[in-house]
Amino acid sequence: MGTNEETIGALRGHLLPNYQPAPVVLTRGRGCRVEDVEGRSYLDMCAGIAVVSLGHSHPKLVAAIAEQAGRLMHTSNLYWNDKQLALGEELTRRTFGTRAFFCNSGAEANEALLKLARKWHHLHGRVERREIVCMDGSFHGRTMGAVSMTGQPKYHVGMEPLVPGIRHVPFGDLEALRAVVGPTTAAVLVEPVQGEGGVTVPPPGYLAGIRALCDERGALLFLDEVQTGIGRTGTFLAHEQLDVTPDAVSLAKGIAGGFPMGAMVCSEKLADGLPFGSHATTFGGNPLACAAALATLRILDDEKILENVRTVGAHLGARLEELASKHADLCEGARGLGLLRGVSLRAHVDARAMLMAAQGQGVLLSIAGGRVLRFSPPLVVTREEIDEGVALLDRTLSAPPAHAIKDAAE
Ligand SMILES: Cc1ncc(COP(=O)(O)O)c(C=O)c1O
Repeated sequence: MGTNEETIGALRGHLLPNYQPAPVVLTRGRGCRVEDVEGRSYLDMCAGIAVVSLGHSHPKLVAAIAEQAGRLMHTSNLYWNDKQLALGEELTRRTFGTRAFFCNSGAEANEALLKLARKWHHLHGRVERREIVCMDGSFHGRTMGAVSMTGQPKYHVGMEPLVPGIRHVPFGDLEALRAVVGPTTAAVLVEPVQGEGGVTVPPPGYLAGIRALCDERGALLFLDEVQTGIGRTGTFLAHEQLDVTPDAVSLAKGIAGGFPMGAMVCSEKLADGLPFGSHATTFGGNPLACAAALATLRILDDEKILENVRTVGAHLGARLEELASKHADLCEGARGLGLLRGVSLRAHVDARAMLMAAQGQGVLLSIAGGRVLRFSPPLVVTREEIDEGVALLDRTLSAPPAHAIKDAAE
């Protein structure tokens, strides 16, 4: 294999240009480090956008995947498989839910929520309850249902017509929600912390207020925990620390430690919502993905990883606060929960240029909400690795590239 530039130059023409990856070709990883084809190592504070929860190539996860690959990879849902059954039990034991549906991504998990909401009300004779209320700034995925629920118009342009019966209200504004939730509402869908929208934590009491409103008006409450779930914020699901219990959640990202998987988990009240034949996906709940998820959950317990998220996450929060006030000319502040955090840049700073400069210093981050440099490291990250990542960003902010500072006159 050639250099990063040679490899990209020779092969990028075979792919659609819908992504704009950083100009490095990653080829291996271990723990919180990844390496490119030139042998350069990076500290990975992105973790595949909050996915690689156990770090790269955790030996026990690798072994579990290899073992299952050699035993049985796929059966379809025409047959039971032992791993899907075990994972259903394992996930419902850990959550408010009693039933699980498995799929392959976060978008698909949200599609399942959308269909569940409508079908469940329909089956119970409330055919007028069709509407899904979502939040401005939210992100729920890119399939048509999920992107229609996503509250960011830039993802809708040219994709219309969107799925009808979906409306948006400002995030964090209970009064706005009160004005629209009514007899035609099937469900309210909200992220406990908006991830892609900019690592935005809602005001205290907001989710509990939505719960009370949904109960009062007969609507379901769904949480999108694709990004916040599976330990990312310090509890298994984020809602556990936010004083609210949903009727259903969507999960994906970290659920199988990096192996592609999504899930929807709901309470017993909704167990009849998707009856036989109403919803399906060929790969959903395949034994290989389920074995990866089972191993991930076991390792989370064995290595007490949630405790790590709480202590190291608090440390990251404190370090980012310090960093933001040290560079107050460039940063507005720090925000987030657990190991999902970010530094918000001021409007005159070009986030992509800063991201690239940080990468040049050797740390991988991601951008959320256009202006937030997001840290979503593996959940096994140490204080020392956090300190290293923050120091590399500090170095970047101390000497920002000239093109990262937009002309005030622009
Ligand atoms: C909160 C949330 N929901 C849904 C999705 C979509 O997940 P996927 O890209 O796996 O379809 C994402 C992805 O970033 C997300 O952050």
